[in-house]
Amino acid sequence: MNLKTYHINTIGCQMNVYDSSKMAAMLTDMGYVPVPSEDTADLVIVNTCTIRAKAKQKATSFLGRLAAAKRRNPDMIIGVGGCVAQEEGRRLLGRFPQVDIVFGTHAVTRLPRLVKRVISDGERLVDVETTERIDETRRTIRSDMGTEHRGLTGACTDFVTIMRGCDNYCTYCVVPYVRGRETSRSPEDILTEIRGLVSAGVREITLLGQNVNSYGKKEGLCSFPELLSRVNDIEGLVRIRFTTSHPKDLSPELVDAFSRLEKLCDHFHLPVQSGSNRILKRMNRKYTRETYLEKLHWLRAACPDIAISTDLIVGFPGETGTDFHQTMALLEDVSFDSIFAFMYSDRPLAPARQFGDKIPDPEKNRRLNLLLSAQEEISRQKNAAMCGRTEAVLVEGQSQTRAGAMAADNQVQWTGRTSGNKVVHFVVDEACENGHAIQPGAMADVNITEGHAHSLRGIAGNVNQHGGCTYAA
Ligand code: 5AD
Ligand code: SF4
Repeated sequence: MNLKTYHINTIGCQMNVYDSSKMAAMLTDMGYVPVPSEDTADLVIVNTCTIRAKAKQKATSFLGRLAAAKRRNPDMIIGVGGCVAQEEGRRLLGRFPQVDIVFGTHAVTRLPRLVKRVISDGERLVDVETTERIDETRRTIRSDMGTEHRGLTGACTDFVTIMRGCDNYCTYCVVPYVRGRETSRSPEDILTEIRGLVSAGVREITLLGQNVNSYGKKEGLCSFPELLSRVNDIEGLVRIRFTTSHPKDLSPELVDAFSRLEKLCDHFHLPVQSGSNRILKRMNRKYTRETYLEKLHWLRAACPDIAISTDLIVGFPGETGTDFHQTMALLEDVSFDSIFAFMYSDRPLAPARQFGDKIPDPEKNRRLNLLLSAQEEISRQKNAAMCGRTEAVLVEGQSQTRAGAMAADNQVQWTGRTSGNKVVHFVVDEACENGHAIQPGAMADVNITEGHAHSLRGIAGNVNQHGGCTYAA
């Protein structure tokens, strides 16, 4: 019997990666097996993103390629999920005759039913209902959370969604319109899922939500710092990360968690978006440059080594040269470890689309390049200053880059991350007695020998096979 095959193309954020892993688990349950290319798949899913125009274009061009693949294999079923599906709904069926299923961000658990209906009735279907409850989602697929869920994201580190949606309405952002209102999952459900992942070999968990600091508030569940404490108690888990936090909601209790919880990594992603108070106001961010800096001060007081990363938008409507220079100056004032910088992109559903004073693309591009090159230098200097330090690294696997796969003397090169989320490529010191224990999920003490703008290099002098908590303690 020929097995049915599927291929999922995931575009966008970690929330989509997480949803794709759920889809994979459900399709496996239906008897589908994954294939690495869309060309040989009976079912192709594209999990889309609409945060910026470029992400949406990626989905469009992939759908173009799928039209050709479907001409070669007319039985191929094509499903479009994620934020573009939620935003566009039925319109996608009109624009893309090759598409069979459009399913939105709340319909992930209904994918098996939709696929079965297409197979039995040959109907083209749209499901952009917004009635899904997250806890139901987990119940449906909990039995599959083992290998399939891990298969997509890697063996020793994984994501767990703790809340969905957003109530903040930043004026540039489409998330509240396509992901809906903020909803939190129950702590019991989250803890059960994490325990399952840990028993399947996961060592590091990243808790996902658009604004984790308001976790549980609406539903009267426990607070986010309380949830972190409970996750910290899970035996066998070595590291905890979370993303994303809104600066306006960063509380003293969360800052305190960094001194209290030994498994919480020394890294905070705190999107600032702009260094200009005038622009922050137009973005509806509800904090100022000064209050943002004050919160970073709290964090650094509680955890002096904490790595700080951020998101920045350049060329927001009305951003003058002076506003932009305030953002440039903020880079120097904060000395971020890394940044994600984006050119402002008009989104059809977001209010800033109606704003006047749009900045022309070439100017946005110029500002982006200035920002990126200034940060490149800051990151390079910060990483170079780490030379000589010993960092606890969670080993993720062997280096994938061809140049990095083997060090000069044919030693295997490994890759992993520090607690501060910096990528480290390293070899194991020949004198390391327990070097044979190295494998994904192990912890290695790596002596840093080189610091570059986007990664570190080093030599491991000690390896702990079980990813043991000795490093976290
Ligand atoms: N244009 C450019 N960047 C955007 N982001 C969100 N919406 C837009 C937009 N319309 C960026 C923000 C956010 C990150 C995930 O994407 O910086 O923090
Ligand atoms: Fe979008 Fe703002 Fe919500 Fe983040 S906090 S998802 S930028 S609306």
